[in-house]
Amino acid sequence: FEIKVGASGGNATSGHQYGFLHEDINNSGEGGIYAELIRNRAFQYSDKFPVSLDAWHSFNNANLALNRLDTPLSKALPVSVTVSPGSNSSGPAGLFNDGFWGIDVRQQAYTGTFWVYGAYEGVFTAELRSALEDDKVFGSVEVESKAMAGEWVEHTFELVPGEDAPNSNNTFALLFDPAGLAEGEESLDFNLISLFPPTYKGRKNGLRVDIAEALAGLHPSMLRFPGGNMLEGLTNTTYWDWKDTLGPLKDRPGFQGVWGYQQTHGLGIMEYLEWAEDMELEIVVGVWAGLALDGGLTSEEDFQAVIDDGLDEIEFICGSVDTKWGAVRAELGHPEPFPLRYVEIGNEDWLAGYPAGWDSYKEYRFPLFLKAINEAYPDIVVISSGSTHDGYNPIPSPGIGDYHPYRTPNALVDEFDLFDNDSGHIVGEVAATHPNGGTGWSGNLMPFPWWIGTVGEAVSLIGYERNADRIPATFYAPVLRNMNRWQWAVTIVQFAADPRLTTRSTSWYVWELFAAHPMTHTLPAEGEFDPLYYVSGTNEDKGSYIWKGAVYNTTNHENVSVSVSFEGVQAGTQAQLTVLTNPGGDPFAYNDPHTGVNIVSKDTVVLSAGDGGAFEFQLPELSVAVLDTEKK
Ligand code: AHR
Repeated sequence: FEIKVGASGGNATSGHQYGFLHEDINNSGEGGIYAELIRNRAFQYSDKFPVSLDAWHSFNNANLALNRLDTPLSKALPVSVTVSPGSNSSGPAGLFNDGFWGIDVRQQAYTGTFWVYGAYEGVFTAELRSALEDDKVFGSVEVESKAMAGEWVEHTFELVPGEDAPNSNNTFALLFDPAGLAEGEESLDFNLISLFPPTYKGRKNGLRVDIAEALAGLHPSMLRFPGGNMLEGLTNTTYWDWKDTLGPLKDRPGFQGVWGYQQTHGLGIMEYLEWAEDMELEIVVGVWAGLALDGGLTSEEDFQAVIDDGLDEIEFICGSVDTKWGAVRAELGHPEPFPLRYVEIGNEDWLAGYPAGWDSYKEYRFPLFLKAINEAYPDIVVISSGSTHDGYNPIPSPGIGDYHPYRTPNALVDEFDLFDNDSGHIVGEVAATHPNGGTGWSGNLMPFPWWIGTVGEAVSLIGYERNADRIPATFYAPVLRNMNRWQWAVTIVQFAADPRLTTRSTSWYVWELFAAHPMTHTLPAEGEFDPLYYVSGTNEDKGSYIWKGAVYNTTNHENVSVSVSFEGVQAGTQAQLTVLTNPGGDPFAYNDPHTGVNIVSKDTVVLSAGDGGAFEFQLPELSVAVLDTEKK
């Protein structure tokens, strides 16, 4: 392959090509990147998930009962647990929690809070204990009681274990001495029992460090949230309502999510925005579009309320402190507006409630949102939740589309040129999910990202980046999977309670490499494609030329000879070539968290341009490469 890259004639890119979608699926938020360690911390419930003592157990034969006191902790959290000492038992009474299938215990400062109702004099004891060994306590702290009759009182503490636990089979216990109960009192009520380890960038109510670092390590520049299906909700009264996620945790009711578990609303809109701020990410915020997964649809007559809610959300994010919702954001600690350039209307409306939902989307829901948002915010790009390939063609200008290819590797390669002559889109969700030949959603999903799937994905990413003037960003989805409870296997990072199990998948290495070499402009290149696919460009800020390529050969296993020359680059100029391969050769190999083995090899060499300024190299079968050279 002889590839000649011109010095001019390409297009400016958005500068933020690579990112990810985060929604709470696979316990990726609760018990995932949201660092809360206590499962079912406030006994929240929904129609789908009745209130329960899930994850809680009695300590020392104490009796635990869920109650709706006449004086609840808050309107949002009306149920608490009543703890009374067990009959015939001496010593402390209390309860303990399993965490999200374990708790990682180390010598670091854990921050805890709990609320108590009832008069008690003495101390509470908060402990991190082994679940395997009776009486093994890794860390303990005494918390002076402020509890009093007839009132909910908050208690806070810091707990620093004296030693690291050997594994994450640990629990958190909260205990009191029955002798300290006021006369006539037989129990205490507790609610909102919360424990956080140190968080990413030290944010209160923040993110789990190792998972956040695994995502930040991808050099992402875009975050799309809050879904995905989670945005839509199962019904049109149970979607992710951003207004329920604001303020103190005691005012957040939680909701049933859409992926089979109750959620707390702890990872709320402010937490998402701070996440974006901490990782320096542009955001695509999805606003609810009046359609739920069960097809529940808001009629045109009632639609203004949906638009108003979306406009409030936008104002909350980027309005000045002089606006109603900008002032609320300021009260919550962030007077500075968050930057907002992209708003998406709904999610996959071509799928939910099809065809009535999709028809209504084109007839009134998207056009009304587009008009309302662009009148108030002319610079915001409004994104349709479907694409020209889902039958929305043309998408009303200046709106753009959103395309979600979950495909076989072959299908991703076939779509290499899909956007060559198309209108603007984001690729809001993409991943290789099925092996070649396997297409059914009911079966044949791969257990993890796998090498040939990853290379197929690389080819599609190159195809999108070639059109980066119209494809401002591409998002891996979904990104995180808790190995203890998941609904969707193929994610870019896998994890469990123990950070030592956090695993970067094969796809992580490709997305990391491509995102580490951002282009400010694409450049035209002459040359053939198949089985080599590539995109060329420049980074004006760094003064470099960049070439990204992938070899996708499934039948002929020979190396591919590549010669890349950049117009104006002289013989002797040096370039760095980084190549990702799977030396084991098995196209179905993957990075399995159970073995911890990384099957991806990353090799970097320095090349010198030969006569005519060409960089010559060989790429093996199923490989991904980036060539980066300084402009001279
Ligand atoms: O990423 C998982 C799901 O796939 C998303 O919730 C939805 O948008 C898509 O169908």
